[in-house]
Formats: sequence, structure tokens, C-alpha cells
Amino acid sequence: MLDRDLRVVLATPMVEALLGFSIAVGESAPRALCGGGVKRPLAEALSAGTPVRTTLANPGRPGRMLSAQGLPFGEPGQRDGSVVLLAEVSAAEAEGAVLYHGMWTQERSMKEVFRVVSRVAAEDVAVLVRGETGVGKELVAQAIHALSPRHRGPFRAINCAALPANLLESELFGHTRGAFTGAVKDAPGHFQLASGGTLFLDEVAELSLELQAKLLRVLETRTVLPVGGRHPLPVDVRIVSATHRPLRKEVEAGRFRADLMYRLRVIPVFLPPLRERPGDVRLLTEKLVEQMNASHRRQIETISPSALDALEAWEFPGNVRELKNVLAYAYAIGDGPILSPSDLPPELFEQGRTTNAPSPEVESLTGEARRIARVLERVGGNRERAAKVLGWSRVTLWRRMRALGLASP
Ligand SMILES: Nc1ncnc2c1ncn2[C@@H]1O[C@H](COP(=O)(O)OP(=O)(O)O)[C@@H](O)[C@H]1O
Ligand SMILES: [Mg+2]
Repeated sequence: MLDRDLRVVLATPMVEALLGFSIAVGESAPRALCGGGVKRPLAEALSAGTPVRTTLANPGRPGRMLSAQGLPFGEPGQRDGSVVLLAEVSAAEAEGAVLYHGMWTQERSMKEVFRVVSRVAAEDVAVLVRGETGVGKELVAQAIHALSPRHRGPFRAINCAALPANLLESELFGHTRGAFTGAVKDAPGHFQLASGGTLFLDEVAELSLELQAKLLRVLETRTVLPVGGRHPLPVDVRIVSATHRPLRKEVEAGRFRADLMYRLRVIPVFLPPLRERPGDVRLLTEKLVEQMNASHRRQIETISPSALDALEAWEFPGNVRELKNVLAYAYAIGDGPILSPSDLPPELFEQGRTTNAPSPEVESLTGEARRIARVLERVGGNRERAAKVLGWSRVTLWRRMRALGLASP
């Protein structure tokens, strides 16, 4: 039970058992339960005085979820206090959608990633995030920073593929006055600017061998030598790096130093592409539409089944970033409350476009049968997974399949 300032008035012994730590009377409940992150549905609802039912990433037991209900009481428009009910998340709920530091998913593979991230964030170890463009590597890096003891320090990101080697060197390590034409004064590099915080090295596999050697020296000596400088400066950063390439292959090909790989990849984290997270296309479309409605004239209320079909059939080489672009297109091109296939970029309907286009057998089916068959194809025939993607129970899926002649009785 919380007072009007959301401080704990009373907590049952079960609270400690569930959380794995105790909450003292007088403590701020949002801080204890929701941590310092940005997306805090429980904290937001409690301070707004609105009832809420949500899940919490359990701060005391990284990777575990609790269900939480917040119930304000008092006169309407005035908050006298609130009651928060905490419970173990049931197996069914654990199967459902979660929001983790700005990332939505309902896929087990992503939840496993979040579990690892929660665990390693607190340790000051180097994490290497691998995944295709647009899968959320930078969001993962930010989550690691937000959950780490360095969260009050800066988070700096630098893209190692975006600059030529000499510019990148001074961006990373800084330079002294007169180090090169145009260097009119000393300038700190990202290693200094991120001091006390986290440095995110994006596309780290694109570093030249020469810069790899310099980076390795920085990590080994924990000092950095600015371009043109004589005196090394101390470095205090946690490194999170990312790449779309398998680093080991780069090492085998002689393009990446093995010793640097071992420094950067103490904890490897792999983010699966969107096309391997079949349940997430629908979830992300719904959540992104909710989000985009807030800032657009067009208000999409429904996603038509055929538009969803088209989205679920698309490979999304650009992953979630591409899905966002596809929806931005729909907001710009279409009208009305229904997202229909004609709102989607034409490339989604071009012939021979993707490697996971439906097979001829699926093409010959119609309507619901086609949707079911395609989902089944995508999940390798696993009915349990297919049912989850469709949002049905296994029994419902089986019944629909039988009714449509897709399964033998
Ligand atoms: N699971 C997710 N839920 C919601 N938005 C996501 C998710 N994954 C990625 N995004 C969004 O997609 C875009 C690309 O993410 P980003 O972290 O920059 O990918 P990467 O660094 O792998 O290229 C960003 O706008 C990000 O907010
Ligand atoms: Mg990126």
C-alpha cells in the first residue's frame, strides 16, 4: 500500500518473497519496483493516478517477470494513495508480449536475449551484440547502459563504418592542437567523452587493422593517446560493440584481430532477424501503429488481415527499422482508419521478391486457409508455434485446420 507520494506504507511478507529483496516503509515504490529506465508503465500509471495491469522485469531477479496491478484510491481526480498487487507471472502470461527497454517481443529467443542482458548489465564486462541492421542492437546497448551502475554517466555511440580511418581515429581518441590541418585546439575523443559511462562501438568489424591495433592498446593499457599527443590519458568506459558480421569469420579471413575479438566479445549477444521472429511482426505492427497514431494526422484503428498477411510474408531485410519505414509510408500514402494492402509499399507485392514467398501449394489456397498454411510453413510445421503466432489455442488451430481441409480428422 502506497501513500499519495507513492511511498510504501505497508508491504506484506510475500512482497519480499516475490521480489527477492525487501522494501522498507517510506521507500519510493516506483524507484524500488521499476528501476531508473525510461519505459515504466507501472510508475507512469501510479503517478497519473490511473489503474494499470502490467508486467515488471523483476529488478531483484534479472530475467524474471512479475505481474503487477496498480489501483489508485480516493476521490476522482485526486489520489489519496494506491494499492499495488504483485504476483508471479503465470506460464501463459510469460508466453505473451513483453516490453523491455523500448523493445517489444513475444518470441522466446528475444526474451532469452533480455535475460542475458539483465544479467550482464551490472558487470563491467565488454558485450558484443551481433545481428542484422535494424534488429535493435543499439537499443540493446542502451539497455545495458541503463541497467548498469554507470547509468548516470554518458552513453556515447560511434559508427566505425561511417568515417575514413584518419577521421575516425581522432573521433575515437581525440586530438591535440596542431595535430593536423584544421586542428585549431585540443579536442576530446569519444573515449574521453564517454568517461564514467558506456561507449557503443557500432559496426566494429569495419575498423581498419591499424585502428584495431590502436583500440587494442587502449583496452589493454586503459589509457588513450590523442592524435598528435604525447601523454596518454586515463580511460574509464565500458565497451559495448556491435556488428552485423560474424567476427570469428572475419578473424579467420585475416580481417580482424583475434586478440581484439576476445577483448570485445567477453559476452556475445545475438539478436535474431525479424523474419525468424514470426510472432513479432504482428505485435510490432500493432505497437508501432499505436505509437505513430500519436504523432500523425491519420489514425489507424485496424490492420486488415490481408495487409497483415503481406507484412508477415515480407522478409524485412532491414528488420524493425524497415517495418517502421513501411508504416511511415502507410501514414503518408493512405487514408482512413483501416491499414489495407494498398497502403503498403509496392515492393511487398512484387513477383519473386523474397526467399520465403509462399509455396505454390499455399498460393492456391484462399483466405484463412492461406494464412494458416503460410504461418505453418514459416514455423516449420510446428502447430504449437503456429497457434501462438495466430493468437489461438492449439485446439482452435486444429479445429480451423480441420474445417478448412488442412488437417485430416
Ligand atoms: N523490439 C523492438 N521493439 C520496438 N522497436 C524496435 C525494436 N527493435 C528495434 N526497434 C526500433 O527499430 C529501429 C532500429 O533499431 P536499432 O537499435 O537502431 O537497430 P540496429 O542498431 O541493430 O541497426 C529503432 O528505431 C528502434 O527503436
Ligand atoms: Mg544501428
